[in-house]
Amino acid sequence: MKYIKLGDLEVSRIGLGAMSMSAAYTGAGTDDAESIRTIHRALDLGVTLIDTAEVYGPYANEELVGRALKRRREGVVLATKFGFMSHTGREGGIDSSPANIRIAVEGSLRRLDTDCIDLYYQHRVDPDTPIEDTVAALAELVAEGKIRHIGLSEAGAETIRRAHAVHPVAALQSEYSLWTRDPEPGVLPLLRELGIGFVPYSPLGHGFLTGQIRSTDDFDDTDWRKNNPRFTGENFQHNLRLADEVRAVADEVGGTPAQVALAWLLAQGDDIAPIPGTKRVERVEENIAADGIVLTAEQIEKLDQLPAAAGDHHDEAGMRLLGR
Ligand SMILES: NC(=O)c1ccc[n+]([C@@H]2O[C@H](COP(=O)([O-])OP(=O)(O)OC[C@H]3O[C@@H](n4cnc5c(N)ncnc54)[C@H](OP(=O)(O)O)[C@@H]3O)[C@@H](O)[C@H]2O)c1
Repeated sequence: MKYIKLGDLEVSRIGLGAMSMSAAYTGAGTDDAESIRTIHRALDLGVTLIDTAEVYGPYANEELVGRALKRRREGVVLATKFGFMSHTGREGGIDSSPANIRIAVEGSLRRLDTDCIDLYYQHRVDPDTPIEDTVAALAELVAEGKIRHIGLSEAGAETIRRAHAVHPVAALQSEYSLWTRDPEPGVLPLLRELGIGFVPYSPLGHGFLTGQIRSTDDFDDTDWRKNNPRFTGENFQHNLRLADEVRAVADEVGGTPAQVALAWLLAQGDDIAPIPGTKRVERVEENIAADGIVLTAEQIEKLDQLPAAAGDHHDEAGMRLLGR
């Protein structure tokens, strides 16, 4: 496994997203023992970056990660997020007020069974709290030793600049993959200018880019993808061609589509650490092996030229929370 820096924070360049173990997708929460084995296998294979959030479940995912890391905490870069749930009574959940952060961090520390969170992200920008106030509250937590590094998620360029001026931001976590290229024109160059690392979430396109999802019929009604524009109706049928093209490159490379989707992200720079999510040992092994795959310039070019996906990457309400 290769290691890179997110700001001053060293992490394995492939991390593990724990969300799907407890939330969002069909099968979540059905086999915690296998989820814990998956986390342990990732650590055995050199992964150090484990990603969760208080809102996953809510709470169940942090508790699961806390259990998994009980005797394996050393050397792990434990990342979690606040601000998608309000503990101060705000409607809608978005709350990055200093008062909310104070409450949220204590809950996350308890559930994760740790004294310090290595990377604490704001989950979504809060239009009702100036980012300067949020980051000042986080800087206090750094000074108190409750968190080590500060991150943002899906923040817009102006917000990133303002946040970084108050206290160094180690990483931005936003959606980035072969079918979600939004960060490329504005955000990625800014991160490089400021020395902030980038953590692409949903790097496998919520599983779609692996080519394993040919129909959505088996999704539970509660599956987040059920209402996602890319997974519905004609868009879904159109997008299947994308997955086929990724598979064609995978056949050429002698790897799997998931590995190609990850290898393409790794080829974008040594300041990028994707966090593919899985709750299965077999798949975590497959995904981590992407670290050893080097795509040729022609293969990267072919992937760069994939047709745009049909449909937005979040529903309307979700899109309004991005890039603020
Ligand atoms: N900051 C944010 O707003 C935000 C939003 C979404 C996610 N995230 C973070 O990013 C992490 C990853 O994103 P994600 O889980 O949404 O999407 P993802 O990593 O793109 O895809 C995960 C899905 O793909 C499946 N999968 C994983 N590896 C596979 C393989 N090798 N072959 C076939 N299928 C495979 C998983 O199923 P199984 O689990 O059944 O293997 C799961 O359904 C999350 O865990 C979370 O920590 C952050």
